[in-house]
Amino acid sequence: MQTILVASSKGGAGKTTLATQLAGHFAVAGKATVLVDADPQGSATRWCERRAGLETAVLPLDGHRRDYRRQLPKDAARVVIDSPAGAMADDLEPFLDEADAVLVPVLPSAIDLEATVPFLDSLARVARVRKGKLPVALVANRLKPWTALGQQALDQLRAWPYPLVATLRDSQAYVLLAALGRCVFDYRSEQMRSHQEDFEPLLRWLKKNT
Ligand SMILES: Nc1ncnc2c1ncn2[C@@H]1O[C@H](COP(=O)(O)OP(=O)(O)OP(=O)(O)O)[C@@H](O)[C@H]1O
Ligand SMILES: [Mg+2]
Repeated sequence: MQTILVASSKGGAGKTTLATQLAGHFAVAGKATVLVDADPQGSATRWCERRAGLETAVLPLDGHRRDYRRQLPKDAARVVIDSPAGAMADDLEPFLDEADAVLVPVLPSAIDLEATVPFLDSLARVARVRKGKLPVALVANRLKPWTALGQQALDQLRAWPYPLVATLRDSQAYVLLAALGRCVFDYRSEQMRSHQEDFEPLLRWLKKNT
């Protein structure tokens, strides 16, 4: 079983978007997938509920329940955890203990970049991260790569001490897919293929590092 924690204390960075897309990817790839929703807003749970009728459904679990690990089906192959805004590493301790990798989405704006630094600092103090036993990676989200600001943000992210493993484009498709309980991997259109390609380096990094 592989457990991936999606986390950032910065609100609106794309945690739920990344967690649902990743969970959808695993389910479409034929893995029994669980999405643990540790956010009282419940967006990840509702995404799972909207997807419940599909063959590639994802099982939602309430991450607030102390016994959530015991609720995991025995055949669960992939567990993705969506965490709430405002949570620093200390608040995520039970999830960090179980995780095989941590993904931190970051929006390419000065405010978001600055606000993410204290969260990354809090992660750097986690013993497993410090010892190199828990890999952490950055995902640039809502990128408009043709803008100078977008490029500047990428340059800044590349200078941070964690690898930048994907840049997800800014696209209304993600807003729509969230509302439908769907993911980019559910479709074969050219537009969705281009979105799928954005995930490839991230998926390769996960394979290599977990
Ligand atoms: N790549 C993207 N392109 C366009 N819109 C996006 C993208 N990623 C996320 N969004 C939208 O931005 C908003 C915030 O994203 P999301 O809910 O995933 O962030 P979050 O980090 O989970 O927020 P919170 O901290 O409130 O839990 C949502 O409306 C979402 O649909
Ligand atoms: Mg969220």
